[in-house]
Amino acid sequence: MYDIWNRRYTGSKYKLADWISDLISGNCSGNSFCDIFAGTGIISYKMIDKVDEIYINDFLYSNELIYKAFFFQSKFDENKMEAYRAKFHALNASDLNDNYISNNFGGKFFSENDSRLIGGIREAIEADRSKLSEKEFSILLASLLYSADKCANTVGHYDAYIKGHDIVDSFSFDLISPYKADKSNIHISREDANELAQKLKCDIVYIDPPYNSRQYSRFYHVLENITCWKKPPLYGVALKPEPENMSEYCRSNANVFFKDLIDSLNCKYIVVSYNNTYDSKSSSSKNKMTLEDIETILKSRGKVKRFETAHNYFNAGKTDFNDHKELIFIVKVK
Ligand SMILES: C[S@@+](CC[C@H](N)C(=O)[O-])C[C@H]1O[C@@H](n2cnc3c(N)ncnc32)[C@H](O)[C@@H]1O
Repeated sequence: MYDIWNRRYTGSKYKLADWISDLISGNCSGNSFCDIFAGTGIISYKMIDKVDEIYINDFLYSNELIYKAFFFQSKFDENKMEAYRAKFHALNASDLNDNYISNNFGGKFFSENDSRLIGGIREAIEADRSKLSEKEFSILLASLLYSADKCANTVGHYDAYIKGHDIVDSFSFDLISPYKADKSNIHISREDANELAQKLKCDIVYIDPPYNSRQYSRFYHVLENITCWKKPPLYGVALKPEPENMSEYCRSNANVFFKDLIDSLNCKYIVVSYNNTYDSKSSSSKNKMTLEDIETILKSRGKVKRFETAHNYFNAGKTDFNDHKELIFIVKVK
């Protein structure tokens, strides 16, 4: 079974999640928490048992679907899910017809056989939609996303697939393991963070935006496509659809949007993640906001505490960038 962190996701705070959630618990007080750029949802997962009310938000369709699958509080039939798991697991690619996924991504993002299975299972989930509750539909589709991601012929995102080798069949359908607790105040949304910030009232808001020009909607377009299942025309070598959900945080005026976000928050504590992963070889990885921009904007809301991890927490010295720091700022709002 897949846990929420069993996926590859650029900027996932999985390895830092205990450090971050301990800092939040040790330096903030409050009963409500919002993860406004939630990504994988790992920070929400770490915080959910520590607060009464939680808001989980990201503007990607696939992320919202995954949060519903893991966190949406609604009963579901575990035997029914297991029956689907067994049925999907037993499928043979040779018994299936070609489909949207195999026609577009076969031999590229997935092997020919794996892509036929992924597309065939997506069609089957859609065909049974009326027999599934929203929670059950979300569990099956999130399980397909996790299973597909595991066998994808990529380095961890879908900006490109790996060329020049035979892709081995490795798809195996397995279920996700939903978070189980009797908790009523879980709010899941798919909104632009700045729009949500206008109406949110919450004690602690955690902010982890993209800091460089790499657009998440373009990096995870295959997962977005499988989720929405509108079968759009695809373009270019990486077979991407027309752009949607392009983030202002990945553009040169990111600090204007960051300031607008920080200024609109109605909360007691603002917690911000920042890292200096700038790699001199790649301009797309260059940060759009400097540390000084962030600190100045945060100081206007209250006293700022700054925390950082040791050097090379992630890299273990594997890149030529030898001063990698992960920072957390905590603002006690005036
Ligand atoms: C650095 S990642 C967050 C990682 C997350 N903390 C984790 O540990 O998995 C940034 C996230 O912000 C989302 N995002 C970017 N711009 C957004 C916006 N304007 N509104 C809402 N979400 C946005 C992206 O889809 C991405 O998932």
